Amino acid sequence: MAALKKLIAGNWKMNMLATDGVALARAISAKANGASCDLLVCPPATILRSVAEALADTDVAVGGQDCHEAESGAFTGDVSAAMVGDAGASHVILGHSERRHGLDESDARVRAKTVAAHGVGLIAIVCIGETEAERDAGRTLDVLSAQLGGSLPDSGVSGTNTVVAYEPVWAIGTGRTPTLEEVEAAHTHIRTTLGAALGGEAAAIRLLYGGSMKPENAGPLLAVANVDGGLIGGASLDAESFLAIAAADAS
Ligand code: PGA
Repeated sequence: MAALKKLIAGNWKMNMLATDGVALARAISAKANGASCDLLVCPPATILRSVAEALADTDVAVGGQDCHEAESGAFTGDVSAAMVGDAGASHVILGHSERRHGLDESDARVRAKTVAAHGVGLIAIVCIGETEAERDAGRTLDVLSAQLGGSLPDSGVSGTNTVVAYEPVWAIGTGRTPTLEEVEAAHTHIRTTLGAALGGEAAAIRLLYGGSMKPENAGPLLAVANVDGGLIGGASLDAESFLAIAAADAS
């Protein structure tokens, strides 16, 4: 199968008010033409609609950062998958480590959210990744298998509705990254694990690397086998550095 077109996704986390977010989105879309990768920005829920409107008719897609698994109901402060889509998003990040570890989100919950996202036609970006203690204990690949098995729905997963992001918890926001060999081992393992569950469809699922990806290290990381893009936190808050990461894709 030909290499998948890469996806460079910006996770803005809890940053940006409307004016700055729209300006950032416009600055990115103004120079997005001719990028060899697909581009996606994931602003906070409060400005999803403004950013989506600013990016309408551009090549930059918009995603949410989370959704609740229920369709509607008494869940104060949460947003449903349909609400995320209604605000203009085509994607949603699920199971980010800041939710798994900060808010005790389990694999089962991430799976339920993924089912909800698929149910309304959103593309789920399902995040997995080991902690430093798990890596030190030599458990990285086992943790990834368990998270994949527990977080992905039993049916209906395909390259058109699912992206998997490998984000080692200890590399997020720390300036530290795994070696290229470690990234390759993790991504190859993820592809193989997906293959056992999904057969040939596994080859169509984009696997993003995330964790301290910057313009300086993006080229080598994006060239690793089975790395089909990046999920970028800090460096996605600046149009130039976000676009420089996309430009580092040599494919
Ligand atoms: P970082 O965050 O690029 O700031 O390390 C990545 C992420 O949390 O998705």
